[in-house]
Amino acid sequence: MGDRLEDRVAVVTGGASGNGRAICRTFADRGASVVVADLRETPRQGGTPTHELIEADGGEATFVECDVSDRADLESAVDAAEAFGGVDSMVNNAGIFRGEEFLDVTEADLQAFLDVNVKGVFFGAQVAAERMLENDGGSIVNMSSIGAVRALGTYPSYDLTKGAVTSLTYSLADRFGGEGVRVNAVMPGIVGTAMTEEDVPIVGTEQGDRYAKSSIPMARFGEPDEVADAVCFLASEEASYVNGETLVVDGGVTHTG
Ligand SMILES: NC(=O)c1ccc[n+]([C@@H]2O[C@H](COP(=O)([O-])OP(=O)(O)OC[C@H]3O[C@@H](n4cnc5c(N)ncnc54)[C@H](O)[C@@H]3O)[C@@H](O)[C@H]2O)c1
Repeated sequence: MGDRLEDRVAVVTGGASGNGRAICRTFADRGASVVVADLRETPRQGGTPTHELIEADGGEATFVECDVSDRADLESAVDAAEAFGGVDSMVNNAGIFRGEEFLDVTEADLQAFLDVNVKGVFFGAQVAAERMLENDGGSIVNMSSIGAVRALGTYPSYDLTKGAVTSLTYSLADRFGGEGVRVNAVMPGIVGTAMTEEDVPIVGTEQGDRYAKSSIPMARFGEPDEVADAVCFLASEEASYVNGETLVVDGGVTHTG
């Protein structure tokens, strides 16, 4: 599998931390150059910036400050890929998550979710597709969640946005499949990152451990590297006939119980 992303160029939003960081590193391990596009350079949970880690391992990467809710920032991230030969793979991964009571959600609360989780993916796909159509095609992978298809708790705005990301993926797969741009999504279950360890503490808590053991067939939460492998598979030539797919990476929880 090692060389199937050789000489490819990936732009990964939210690449500083968590799943995005693992996605960047997996692309680089398989020979791709990587643009890390994020609000912040250093990982949320500390450590060396993703692009520096990749460069220290002998890979090619750069960091671009990018707020995905701003289309111009997304354009800059895709522009930065030109230095490596132009974007082949766009991973619309940046997202936000928090618990909320539906009856308390304000217009501002909902808008914040829509701006990052929906608008960020929509225009991330748009700026990348424009560039891919001018070049030799490419692959777009959007980050959904199993929250799109099953309720796991009190996350109505988040679940709504992930449903939207999933629908958008199907729509774009139909729009661009005939023009050499494949569009797919990954649907992770609960994965240990700052999002699930700090924003909504689940992973690493006693209650979370009990839930994992009793409700997830594999009896554990996922790792960012496991999400990254799924993303890189969809981006790679191994997935050359995969289009409009949502790849569930959840230890089996969605289709059981
Ligand atoms: N962790 C999980 O259990 C889980 C499960 C399913 C889906 N996901 C999805 O995976 C993606 C990554 O989540 P994570 O768990 O790695 O979270 P994380 O909080 O660890 O990392 C998210 C990264 O996105 C960046 N980011 C946030 N808002 C941004 C913005 N407006 N513009 C640019 N970058 C921004 C943050 O700075 C951070 O570096 C999200 O789309 C999330 O919904 C996560």
